[in-house]
Amino acid sequence: MLLLLFQALFSKSVSAVNNGLAQTPQMGWNNWNSLGCDVSQDLLLDTSRVLLSSGLKDVGYNYVVLDDCWSDGRDNDGYLRPDATKFPRGMKWVADKLHDMGFLFGMYSSAGELTCARYEGSLDHEEKDAEIWAAWDVDYLKYDNCYHMGRFGYPEISFNRYNNMAKALNATGRPILYSLCSWGEDYVHTWGMSIANSWRVSGDIYDHFNRPDALCACDDPRDPHCVAPGTHCSVMNIINKVAPYVDRGQFGGWNDLDMLEVGQGGMDDEEYKAHFSMWAALKSPLLIGADIRRLSSKTLTILNNPAVIAVNQDPLGRSVAQIYRDQHVKKDKYGQGETQIWSGPLWRHDQLVIFLNAADEDLEMTTTLNDVFIHEGPEGSAPQTRDEFDVYDLWADRMEHHTAEQVLAGNHQYKNSWYNSTQTPYKEGLAKADPRLLGKRVGSVGPKHNVLRANVPRHGVRMFRLRNLTGGSPRYAMTKDEL
Ligand code: GAL
Repeated sequence: MLLLLFQALFSKSVSAVNNGLAQTPQMGWNNWNSLGCDVSQDLLLDTSRVLLSSGLKDVGYNYVVLDDCWSDGRDNDGYLRPDATKFPRGMKWVADKLHDMGFLFGMYSSAGELTCARYEGSLDHEEKDAEIWAAWDVDYLKYDNCYHMGRFGYPEISFNRYNNMAKALNATGRPILYSLCSWGEDYVHTWGMSIANSWRVSGDIYDHFNRPDALCACDDPRDPHCVAPGTHCSVMNIINKVAPYVDRGQFGGWNDLDMLEVGQGGMDDEEYKAHFSMWAALKSPLLIGADIRRLSSKTLTILNNPAVIAVNQDPLGRSVAQIYRDQHVKKDKYGQGETQIWSGPLWRHDQLVIFLNAADEDLEMTTTLNDVFIHEGPEGSAPQTRDEFDVYDLWADRMEHHTAEQVLAGNHQYKNSWYNSTQTPYKEGLAKADPRLLGKRVGSVGPKHNVLRANVPRHGVRMFRLRNLTGGSPRYAMTKDEL
């Protein structure tokens, strides 16, 4: 009796948004972008071994997430059943193996009659499905939006459909990270944080930097009324979609810009760096989407940059916001081209500045402290414009090609040089000013010399951490008494 009471109390204390998970955006790997339905237990285990041996787990990628196409309908008792060819030892066995290696295990379903690839969905089966995932020791659910039987069209109806699963997950008593995949529909950015740890903001990403595609149906990516988010959304399309509501992300709940395309082959090195930097700075979950069983050294040295990941995992949990956008720049053959500047606060009064050059040529880009701190006060009235900062380039210390080759060849002598966030969480590393989290000092800015300038390659970024040397001026979130 006492035990039952304890269990009841315990299960009450866990709720989806307040489940203690995703205090910083989740990181990991998901098979969909590279492998689609080609899933198996061997794929998950082989991938996990690469995450371990390449150091990617140590920098933070700890969720191994299995996407669509794993099931084989339901058993006679109505419980989901894994495909015995793809998962001959069952899902609990997979979970145990992943846990033994130090990973967390993610699975997938849809808030619909079927999943998007037409496997069994969870609509109206929420309790049984949550129960079986908890019994398998699953740690993460990606919850899709296909075949919703018309139960969408305004926020409350979608909210209720997704909330049914939130309640079912809570009732299991097992903390399960809840990742909504409703593609930005029904204003999910206004309610996702009430029930979930992350929510997709767009149709599916594809492996292009800015090429428009009819399948990513919303012509104007900023149109909040777009109801057909589709697929084939470019990196720039998704960035422009999330721009108006970057502030929705918060501890325990994040705008999800979709899985990373880094390493898939459709973009060049600068474009992948830009994609990764923006996802990190916009506080999106960072889920590697490439098939890393064939990991190249170039891909590794983008994904494992601890100075950029430290921005994503920053203890303040605030996204960058757009402070400048210019569309009168050189356009490419698709008619696309723009430049943007983004900035936002980092822990302990540091500030992030990103020059994003989506024009069709290399450019010099410039900003001033007045503009960087525009959200703290207009036209130079922000107190931060009187602070002194050292400027650190967050890509300058990218791992050398040769080192990455050695790591991939299994040369263990490098194990001690890469950042290990399990031993030293990012907050601790930042408090100690670990140089691997800061990049390279390239200059300074302050009241007397307040211009920040950089050459930015075509379709590339320059990403700077401004380290506050003054101890930090108070932010606008001050109480009235402090003003
Ligand atoms: C889409 C989803 C993708 C992937 C796919 C699986 O709806 O956005 O990320 O999960 O379904 O069928």
